[in-house]
Amino acid sequence: MADNKQKLTIDNSVLTVKASAPGKINLLINVGAPQEDGYHPLETVFLATDLRENVYAQLWSSTALASSNLTLEYVDIGNNSPDTTKLATDETNLAVRAARALQKATGSGQGARLRIEKYVPIAGGMAGGSADAAATLVALNELWQLHLPISQLLEIGATLGADVPFCLLGWCAHGTNRGDKIQAIFAPQQYWVVALLPVEISTPRVFKAFDMHNIAQLMPVSEGFYQALEAGDWSTIGNLLNNDLAAAAIELEPMIAKVLTVFAQAGALGQIVSGSGPTCVALASDKTHAELLARTVAETLADLRVKVMVISGPTAGAQIEQSGLELPWPTF
Ligand code: C5P
Repeated sequence: MADNKQKLTIDNSVLTVKASAPGKINLLINVGAPQEDGYHPLETVFLATDLRENVYAQLWSSTALASSNLTLEYVDIGNNSPDTTKLATDETNLAVRAARALQKATGSGQGARLRIEKYVPIAGGMAGGSADAAATLVALNELWQLHLPISQLLEIGATLGADVPFCLLGWCAHGTNRGDKIQAIFAPQQYWVVALLPVEISTPRVFKAFDMHNIAQLMPVSEGFYQALEAGDWSTIGNLLNNDLAAAAIELEPMIAKVLTVFAQAGALGQIVSGSGPTCVALASDKTHAELLARTVAETLADLRVKVMVISGPTAGAQIEQSGLELPWPTF
């Protein structure tokens, strides 16, 4: 195959790196008034979920070491995959921008071909694009043998988007500033039900709508929240969930209000818009409760084409899954 001839071979084998990074949900998002740069200061609690993106990276050609070529494709993984057909794969894509930022920061002239298996909803408020960027940074750091420490990847990540640093670090964290200054906090395993709405809303539009209505006062995360989280007191956490962006998201997409009501009626411990929406998430007391909740909500919302799934967290940040010669390269 012509394709094979172009691959860099080491003893006739092809070096491939597979990395993954988590999508996130926010248990709390408290928002302040916009700063001069237009960004809003946040007090937020992130949870890394087991809905993860996979990024495969491979040295592109026998001339790759001298060329900075990058290519990106999305792999169709069937039913569970969000529709990636409309996503740009050019220089505007956040994963490609991550690769470019890494080349720039290190002066590396190496290229790569990238393939992404997408599981995190697109424009759903779960940081799928940021997870792609985070996994790409980790994958190329390994593929190109750059040996950058995580502190430097975090710095590069923060220039790409507010959620990228958290996707790099994972687990559970308190986020401040744009959400890009993060500090790890302990949280036990928890189960959530996710409702994916068949609509997209843009994050900047949600923040703009928020600005129209709020004289925002930034509230810190309460001590009670941290204590309940650490203790796994899910009823208390359910009552304390908050998203200051919810009203703005509902204004742009009223279906969100309906979904939140259905979660409440189905017995969720608490429900919340994830990030800037439209994805909604509901907290369950355990896995069995989550599965029951998911079934009930899926039946009730079947007419609205809402997709429902159970997720769990915390999970690790961006990490290498496999690295070596002759690893399977995902095909379409
Ligand atoms: O950083 P990211 O690209 O994820 O942000 C997308 C947009 O969301 C920004 O351009 C900005 O309009 C808005 N945003 C904000 N305050 C934040 C995070 C994002 O206003 N803390």
